Amino acid sequence: MGSIADVRARLAAARQEGAAAVPRVALVPTMGALHDGHLALVERAREIADIVVVSIFVNPLQFGAGEDLDRYPRTLDADLTRLAEAGVPFVFAPTAREMYPEGSPGTRVTAGAVGSLYEGAARPGHFDGMLTVVAKLFNIVGPDVAVFGQKDAQQVFLVQRMVADLDLPLRIDVAPIVREESGLALSSRNRYLDEAQRAAAHALSAALAAAASVARGGDATAGQALAAARDAIEAAPMVKLDYLVVVHPHTFLPVGDDYRGPARMLVAALVGTTRLIDNTALDLDTGRTSTR
Ligand code: PAF
Repeated sequence: MGSIADVRARLAAARQEGAAAVPRVALVPTMGALHDGHLALVERAREIADIVVVSIFVNPLQFGAGEDLDRYPRTLDADLTRLAEAGVPFVFAPTAREMYPEGSPGTRVTAGAVGSLYEGAARPGHFDGMLTVVAKLFNIVGPDVAVFGQKDAQQVFLVQRMVADLDLPLRIDVAPIVREESGLALSSRNRYLDEAQRAAAHALSAALAAAASVARGGDATAGQALAAARDAIEAAPMVKLDYLVVVHPHTFLPVGDDYRGPARMLVAALVGTTRLIDNTALDLDTGRTSTR
């Protein structure tokens, strides 16, 4: 399905087929280049809804000048095969012309101050472009629930806030990060890494694990967790740290070094020319940690 009219018509028909109860529709928005992390989102969507729609669209609006829009992996045929094997009949894969007939849209969603921090500082305009396409996808598909991966923690925060701020009639479901055995979080960009870089990239999850281990001891501050993570990442070859920060889960703003309480640690680094991100929840009060 490449056209907006098509996806709307097919979903309207599918909704009618669902006898007494209206089938719940789940949307899994993706940019394609599907890996097992995406398939885990599809699985999650299937658990919570009757109809699963996967969108595949490399959204030009969320790439800045000099970013990897042109070389971003596009593997539509392989993606469609994987989704067919996973039993997903509804795939919405529009062209840029279908989504933005006038070229750059005059109306956009703005991500506000948090949208300019962390990933937004490195990629100005990224989150405005991301929220704009996500709002469009929500309006096109009309899902009851949309499933996002926790790996993009700032994206999840901003999408949840957009849904609340604009009273959008759906729920956001967040699926845990899927990792390789080494700890490396799955990402479409991992395919840019050569063997040595892939081994070095393990430093991001190792840094988060070091922080989690400090937190698990109980009575740790944000500053102590940060110091442990920084030591782990600075010891790694080929890894250029961009940011390492502990944020409050409700505001996504940085906490002070003395902070104790629920928190999320975010890390971003360049490995070669590939920008990688990762994050983990830390409870700096009770010592509980989780990968969600
Ligand atoms: O996370 C992504 O792949 C993209 O940011 C999304 C949510 C599909 C919007 O283009």
